[in-house]
Amino acid sequence: MDTARKVLVTGGCGFIGANFVRHLHRTCPRWRVVNLDTLTYAGNLDNLQGIEEGNRYRFVKGDICNTALVEEIFVAEQIDTVVHFAAESHVDRSITGPAEFIQTNIIGTFTLLEAARRNWQDQHRGGTHPLFLHVSTDEVYGSLGETGYFRETTAYDPRSPYSASKASSDHLVNGYFHTYDLPVMITNCSNNYGPYQFPEKLIPLIIHNCLQGRALPVYGDGKNIRDWLHVQDHCEAIAAVLEKGAIGASYNIGGNNEKENLEVVERICDIVDDRVGPLSSGEKRRSLITFVTDRLGHDRRYAIDAGKIKEQVGWQPKITFDEGIRKTVDWYLEHQQWVNTIIDGSYRGYYEKMYGNREILPPQR
Ligand code: NAD
Ligand code: DAU
Repeated sequence: MDTARKVLVTGGCGFIGANFVRHLHRTCPRWRVVNLDTLTYAGNLDNLQGIEEGNRYRFVKGDICNTALVEEIFVAEQIDTVVHFAAESHVDRSITGPAEFIQTNIIGTFTLLEAARRNWQDQHRGGTHPLFLHVSTDEVYGSLGETGYFRETTAYDPRSPYSASKASSDHLVNGYFHTYDLPVMITNCSNNYGPYQFPEKLIPLIIHNCLQGRALPVYGDGKNIRDWLHVQDHCEAIAAVLEKGAIGASYNIGGNNEKENLEVVERICDIVDDRVGPLSSGEKRRSLITFVTDRLGHDRRYAIDAGKIKEQVGWQPKITFDEGIRKTVDWYLEHQQWVNTIIDGSYRGYYEKMYGNREILPPQR
C-alpha cells in the first residue's frame, strides 16, 4: 500500500491488533502507526517485541474512553486512519462481568467516533481521505441452524452481552456514516486463531492444557460450530479493505472452515501427541477431554458467506485449517514462556468462576 497514512490502531497489544501492527510493519514502511492500548489482562507489550518506537511506531498506554487523550492523539499525530480493535473480546467474561463490555465496546467506540468527527470535519471533502475501520464480529448476527450463512444483509440478532455490545458499536459506526458522513467501514469476522492469542479462548486454552496434562473442557455436547480463520488471513483482509473497500460498507470475513468444537479439540490432541509424545501415563491426550456444563446462551453455529469481500475487494483466505492449526500448536510449543508469564496463579477461567471448581478433573477411567 503506497499512500503514506497516519494510523491510530486501538488495542494493538491484543491478539489480532498485535498481529496487525506486525503486518503493517512488514508491508507498509511509509505508514506511521500509533498504538493506543490500556493493557488490560489481554494486552501484552511482549506481543510487539521487536517493533521499536520511532518514526514508524509509537505506543500510548491509555483508555479509548478517555476523551482528552484520544483528542490529543488525533491532533498531535494528525491521524487520518483509525483501525479500531480495542475491545473486551471474550464471550465467557461478558457472562460473568458485562459492565466492562458496555464501557469499552460501546462508550469507547463512541469516544473514537466523536474524535474522528471533530477532527475530520472538512478533510474528506478535500484532498485527504480519512478512514475509520471498525473491526467487528460475526457474532452480531446471532446463531445459525444447521444450514445457511451470515451475509452482510443478515439482520442483527446478538445473543450475549459481548455480541450485544459489539452490535451496538456497529450501529453507532453506521449512524455516524449516515448522519455525519463520517468515512467508515466495518468488518465482521469469524473466529480467529494463531499466535499471541490469550489462552482463555478455545484453541490456545486446549493447546496449553494439553501440554500441562490438564482436563480439556468442552462445553455442552461439543457440537457447536465455529468458522475458523487464521489471524494472518484476517490481517490481510483488513489491509485489503483499507485499500479497496467502499466507504460506508460492511464486509464479512471468514475462512470457510466450519468445524464442530469437539473435532477441533481432538485435532489439537493428535497434533500435540505427534509433536511431544503421549502423556506420561502412556495415554493419548484425547483421554483428557471432559464435557462440562454448557456456556449460558451458547450460540450453536456460525458460518460466513465471504463472497462480497472476495468479489469487491479481491481477498480470500490462504491458510487452510490443517496448516494453520499445526503452525499454531508449534508456535505455542515454542512460546511456553509467553503463556506462563501472562497466566499467573490468580487466573480463573469461566467454568471455575461460574461453578466454583478450581480444577476441572478429566474423566476417570
Ligand atoms: P483481545 O482481547 O486479544 O485484545 C483486546 C485489546 O484491546 C487488548 O490489548 C486490550 O488491552 C485492549 N483494550 C481493551 N480495553 C481497552 C480500552 N478501554 N482502551 C484501550 N485498549 C483496550 O482481542 P482480539 O481477540 O484481538 O480482538 C480484537 C478485536 O477483533 C475486537 O474488537 C473483537 O471484537 C474483534 N474480533 C475478534 C475475533 C476473534 O476471534 N478473536 C473475531 C472477530 C472479531
Ligand atoms: O466469532 C467471532 C468471535 O469468536 C469473536 O468475536 C470473539 O471475540 C472470540 O472470542 C470468539 O468467540 P467464541 O465464543 O466463539 O470463542 P471461544 O474461543 O471462547 O469459544 C469457541 C467455541 O468453543 C465456543 O463454541 C465455546 C467453546 N468452548 C470454549 C472454551 C473457552 C469450549 O467448549 N470450551 C472452552 O473452554
